[in-house]
Amino acid sequence: MLTDVTAFAPATVANVGIGFDILGHTVEAIGDRVRVRRSDEPGVRITEIRGIAGALPIEPERNTAGRAVQAMVEDLRIDFGFEMQIEKGIPLASGLGGSAASAVAAVVAANALLVQPAPPLRLLMYAMQGEIVASGSAHLDNIAPSLFGGLVLTVGIDHPRVKKIPVPASLRCVIVHPHMHLGTREARAILKADVSRSDFVWQTANLAGFISGCYSDDLDMIRDSFNDVIIEPQRSSLIPGFAAVKRAAMSAGALGCSISGAGPTVFAWSEIQYAEAVRGGMVAAFASHGLAADDWISKIENYGARVVKA
Ligand code: HSE
Repeated sequence: MLTDVTAFAPATVANVGIGFDILGHTVEAIGDRVRVRRSDEPGVRITEIRGIAGALPIEPERNTAGRAVQAMVEDLRIDFGFEMQIEKGIPLASGLGGSAASAVAAVVAANALLVQPAPPLRLLMYAMQGEIVASGSAHLDNIAPSLFGGLVLTVGIDHPRVKKIPVPASLRCVIVHPHMHLGTREARAILKADVSRSDFVWQTANLAGFISGCYSDDLDMIRDSFNDVIIEPQRSSLIPGFAAVKRAAMSAGALGCSISGAGPTVFAWSEIQYAEAVRGGMVAAFASHGLAADDWISKIENYGARVVKA
């Protein structure tokens, strides 16, 4: 029986522009690691948080990874304890799904210590309890891709259905993270409660077009549908230079460009041959608004969280 396991969970781009709270994809280049050790003393303890950690709470009930494993302990009535070390590779409040990745890595590692491991959909629900601690709301668009990998659609919250959507192989995701923080709670709090009928029609058409374009390898359909008419216009003012960054990405050949999750990270999808130019344009546009940035070009890999050391 294993007693000491480390798991990795990748960063994620939630919403992917047009799928607010229901669509997300992995960014394999960045992620969090959580080491979990079995202990005879019942309960969950966090012994260390390192990496790009900032001021994260160490009390398990206030920490996304700690709360997620607590939810697992309560549900499965586990009578032994877990000691956790968290290594943050995802910048805090960046819009890259850091709270979700810590929760997912924690439940994947803890699960590997069980004689009877829980099925993946239960892990999703435990990790969601961690996400609620961080953002104040239940949404799975970071958790599901981080756990399952690839581009993932989640339908439902209490009994979610999770569907992996194929991504055309010629596409890359360009990620540009400006050096500023934007809290998910704050970025959710500004959103209007109502949507006009015409925006509703456009958004549903775009989401359907985007997904059908992914299934049929139709890049023109993806490009024409890659337009969030509801959330992006409300949040873009929270990100200095967003309009210029998007313009730079599109004029360099991107299929689409929008806010990653709640921001401030901005992402673009492009064909592989334009990805470097898209990245350069986006980084330069942020720089001209006084913001330095980190950047990545990533394939949308089809795998999610996994045990990396046991
Ligand atoms: N769908 C969420 C949002 C992702 O945009 O608020 C943030 O975690």
